[in-house]
Amino acid sequence: MINVGLIGFGYWGPNLARNFSLNSDFELSAICDFSSDRLETAAKHYPQVNLYKDLNEFYNDKALDAIAIATPVATHYKLAKNAILSGRHVWLEKPMTETVAQAEELIELAAKKKKVLLVDHTFVYTGAVRKIKEIIDKGEIGDLIYYDSTRVNLGLFQQDVNVIWDLAPHDISIMDYLMPFKKVVVSATGSHYYGSEIVPKSLVTVYMENNTVAHINVSWVSPVKIRQTLIGGSTKMILYDDNQLSEKVKIYDKRVELGHTMEELYHLKVQYRVGDMYAPKIDDQEALALETSHFAECLMNGKKPLTDGKAGLEVVKVLVASEESLKNKGAPVRL
Ligand SMILES: NC(=O)c1ccc[n+]([C@@H]2O[C@H](COP(=O)([O-])OP(=O)(O)OC[C@H]3O[C@@H](n4cnc5c(N)ncnc54)[C@H](O)[C@@H]3O)[C@@H](O)[C@H]2O)c1
Repeated sequence: MINVGLIGFGYWGPNLARNFSLNSDFELSAICDFSSDRLETAAKHYPQVNLYKDLNEFYNDKALDAIAIATPVATHYKLAKNAILSGRHVWLEKPMTETVAQAEELIELAAKKKKVLLVDHTFVYTGAVRKIKEIIDKGEIGDLIYYDSTRVNLGLFQQDVNVIWDLAPHDISIMDYLMPFKKVVVSATGSHYYGSEIVPKSLVTVYMENNTVAHINVSWVSPVKIRQTLIGGSTKMILYDDNQLSEKVKIYDKRVELGHTMEELYHLKVQYRVGDMYAPKIDDQEALALETSHFAECLMNGKKPLTDGKAGLEVVKVLVASEESLKNKGAPVRL
């Protein structure tokens, strides 16, 4: 049995608490939050759990083998560092850290102390993304050409970070898992319309090797919630619509072919193939439940997390570059 303690019982923390308490390999034994209100709520749901307002007392709880951190990103580095230094394995929420140097330091520290460091890139564990990975790895859609996602809705404005830091980690982590290409240049545009310094709408472009590109459109100021991703291949194309209850993933037998001869290229001879569409069956197990079991396996069997510190670092690199580009009206930033 792995004793796990959770820091942060705000919006996301309760989802982690629920999954740890439902998993037979874990004992949720402590929750820490500096808000009395949140601790009161935690006490109602988990009366058997030790509750801490004080971080030092929490870290001194000798029972803890692992610590999950679900607090705002500005706190991640310090909390995770203390957790590893106190000899605990760590589950760290996305985005991993505020800076590349912080992420690199945590990776190094976890390796030195032989502790598991998992970064919660939840979407990687969804049935839909796992199915898409399977289809891509079988070669079914050919060479990968683009990743094009729209993740927009109304709110929730964050007080401390731009929309890129809030929503784009999901897409960057999905993209990194499905298209693990070297990222070369990042450009991000956006603006603050609402009198605050916080940018609520942005388009991030990631140029990768092999002429592949990602466009990630994120917003808190859209009247409708859209969660659509298109993945273009040289032979087929995928639509992933996370808002759909069924048929979240559709594979289209559609493609574009350009002529190869000088004459065909001169006349820009384009052929469009329009074939069938199918929607594969998707495993509907809750992603966090699978991720929690995976974390247990990493702790018990020394398995490397699918979303380890390195995966977290890749996301942070793109976020930091996006922030820099955003300040300079989309100027390209090399990675
Ligand atoms: N994986 C996902 O899909 C997903 C979804 C939502 C949020 N998140 C991530 O989870 C993290 C938390 O987000 P949230 O929306 O739950 O934030 P939140 O503000 O709703 O909750 C954070 C909680 O942590 C507490 N807290 C903050 N700093 C603390 C500290 N130093 N010590 C003790 N308690 C502290 C706050 O009182 C609050 O209750 C963020 O990194 C966010 O990006 C991940």
